[in-house]
Amino acid sequence: MRVLITGGAGFIGSHLAQACLERGDEVYIIDDLSTGSLKNIKPLQENTAYKGRFFATIDSILNQDAMLELTGICDVVFHLAAAVGVRYILENPLVSIKVNIQGTEKVLEMCAKFKKKVLIASSSEVYGKHLHAPLREDDNIIYGPSSKSRWSYAASKLMDEFTALAYHRTKGLPVIITRLFNTVGPRQTGAYGMVIPRFVSQALRNSPLTVYGDGKQTRTFTYVKDVVWALQQLMDSEDAVGQVFNVGGTEEITIWDLAERVIRETGASSEIETIPYEKAFEKDFEDMQRRVPCIEKIHGCIGFKPRTDLTTIIRSVIDDRRKAAI
Ligand SMILES: NC(=O)c1ccc[n+]([C@@H]2O[C@H](COP(=O)([O-])OP(=O)(O)OC[C@H]3O[C@@H](n4cnc5c(N)ncnc54)[C@H](O)[C@@H]3O)[C@@H](O)[C@H]2O)c1
Repeated sequence: MRVLITGGAGFIGSHLAQACLERGDEVYIIDDLSTGSLKNIKPLQENTAYKGRFFATIDSILNQDAMLELTGICDVVFHLAAAVGVRYILENPLVSIKVNIQGTEKVLEMCAKFKKKVLIASSSEVYGKHLHAPLREDDNIIYGPSSKSRWSYAASKLMDEFTALAYHRTKGLPVIITRLFNTVGPRQTGAYGMVIPRFVSQALRNSPLTVYGDGKQTRTFTYVKDVVWALQQLMDSEDAVGQVFNVGGTEEITIWDLAERVIRETGASSEIETIPYEKAFEKDFEDMQRRVPCIEKIHGCIGFKPRTDLTTIIRSVIDDRRKAAI
């Protein structure tokens, strides 16, 4: 199969590219390297087993000509390219909205033109400010006001979902929507606000681990290879078409406990330091207090259950960071 991965030089995209290559696919990626990196795809370009089956285009998904050519060539499209990460969104509000809304619209337009099945990477952020758990795909959605630009990421991803479903309903385009919860593993950068790589890097320097807010907010974490497996299975499933799925872990942990766990696993002498949200991000910053997925729907469709526990996930990031420092 010929697979196009937008955002293929990113964290999840590069793992997905590798998994597709391992199963014998021909893989095309497009990435503008805004948060992705050539380092992520170098091993794929250099692996002789993938020779003649991996093709990278360094360009934007907003480039009509590039997207026309790539979508035409491929059988299916995994759309992962996006402006990602709370810090990145706050620092680049306009470009984020443009890439996440116009970029996705461009991908869907091309897929509709060539009648190609497409999987959209949405986010648990679309749920907004819920306090209850677990979050179900048909839950209502609550956001803060538009004056708080952190909600623009959630709103843009939600708009992507509406647009994809509209293409499905009006043009019969086979679309699958995945709401990814915090996904973690080797190669993820902490530079844009991702918590585990940030904590691990701080711990390996024996620096204080900086917890935003009081640390009582909770999250779940999913190993990137488990997520990639789910994305591939959903793409292969006819029952998944036209549906929205949570993809996430179920082991809920407070950010404070997570910091303690990272310190224990690295053996660091670091302290934990709390930083008020307004200092870490912006005045009146709102965080999501709880984010736990209900995974009944995806389990019913493809049998997904997270296979990798949190300790193993943290250790994989520690190993990766130690190797990167050598
Ligand atoms: N990692 C997570 O925990 C998580 C959680 C929820 C949703 N997601 C979604 O999963 C997808 C992949 O995220 P990730 O964690 O791998 O982040 P990432 O930043 O590593 O990957 C995104 C990639 O898209 C590329 N990109 C951005 N704008 C582009 C453009 N205009 N044209 C081409 N490429 C462009 C970036 O360079 C990057 O390589 C994103 O859509 C993200 O919203 C991720």
